[in-house]
Amino acid sequence: MKRIAVIPGDGIGIDVTRESMRVLRRVNDVFSARLEFVEFDWGAEKYLKEGIALPPGAFEMFRKDFDAILFGAVGDPRVPDQRHAAEILLALRFGLDLYANVRPVRLFDEKLCPLKGVRVEDVNFTVVRENTEGAYVNSGGVFKKGTDDEVATQVEIHTRKGVDRIIEYAFEYALRYGKTKLCMSDKSNVMGYAGDLWQRSFKEIAVHYPEIETSHLYIDALCLLMVRQPKDFQVIVTNNMFGDIVTDLAAALQGGLGMAASGNIRPDAVSLFEPVHGSSPPLAGKNIANPMGSILTAAMMLEHLELNDAARTVENAVIACVKEGKTTQDIGGTLGTREVGEAVLAKL
Ligand code: NAD
Ligand code: IPM
Ligand code: MN
Repeated sequence: MKRIAVIPGDGIGIDVTRESMRVLRRVNDVFSARLEFVEFDWGAEKYLKEGIALPPGAFEMFRKDFDAILFGAVGDPRVPDQRHAAEILLALRFGLDLYANVRPVRLFDEKLCPLKGVRVEDVNFTVVRENTEGAYVNSGGVFKKGTDDEVATQVEIHTRKGVDRIIEYAFEYALRYGKTKLCMSDKSNVMGYAGDLWQRSFKEIAVHYPEIETSHLYIDALCLLMVRQPKDFQVIVTNNMFGDIVTDLAAALQGGLGMAASGNIRPDAVSLFEPVHGSSPPLAGKNIANPMGSILTAAMMLEHLELNDAARTVENAVIACVKEGKTTQDIGGTLGTREVGEAVLAKL
């Protein structure tokens, strides 16, 4: 028995999670997976009504009673500062110490890639994003607010432990998936202090992985080469903010945000799986959103739960639907969210 917490969240998070849940229920039938689901209604609606984003005791509950969390997306125009989103999603990443944000980038059909002459095998890499430090600690302050002399500071935090563990994770990930190349990306030419820490950590840890070929790119150069030569990349490790930005760029290579999956992982502990996309308020509730990112995310979760056959089967079902054009409009099809869910189910 594995217990899964399901947090659909807001907007299209609700639409796409409904489809990945149907897929997971089918996985229960076909693979006798014995997954048990508990749904949580956390999101903008509850926050606006009750003032509660993440209820007290949530971290302890997840650590004690759950094996994984399936998350949709959070974000709602009725909460202009998106405070509830930070209090739910960022708080879960930090509070459960989910330090590795793993974002695989794979192209399932050439016609999904906006670049000319790119074959499916040319886009197949994973971004390992640090997920608990950097700019996301939101450290800083403001002085003389609202005056002509206003000062705002926003401080990044990079710890030796935090940098070491994400770099080690990236090397281990490369080994586990038979990848032979790892690229570390930073902006150490400008951000000297944090950059120096990342550089030393990467070089020192690389010594223990002689079978992995290492390289380094400044983040701006990485953006260029990711578009010009995506096939050069296998695994990329970078900090929290750069990882956030390059994974939207990377998502474009695989057909857009509707196709991108991710896991917020802490090895051997409860981890959280979510599509890379947000709540896309304009598409919400209209049966338009692409559920494949969420379904591929569910497959990542199945793999994390060591249900590898089920994970591969779900992934292959999505790939087959893509190849047959059974897709939503964002990747060139004509189906709705539910119909794509149906098409994937039919392959299982
Ligand atoms: P978004 O990912 O919601 O949308 C960006 C663009 O991609 C839009 O054009 C949208 O229509 C399209 N898109 C995204 N997912 C799609 C899907 N499944 N199918 C088809 N098209 C899809 O990002 P945004 O518009 O910058 O943000 C909207 C809200 O979501 C904001 O409140 C933001 O803070 C939040 N957000 C949440 C998460 C999360 O919960 N993990 C991630 C990103 C943004
Ligand atoms: C993502 C999102 C989040 C992030 C937001 C919603 C806080 O953009 O998961 O990529 O910046 O990490
Ligand atoms: Mn993002």
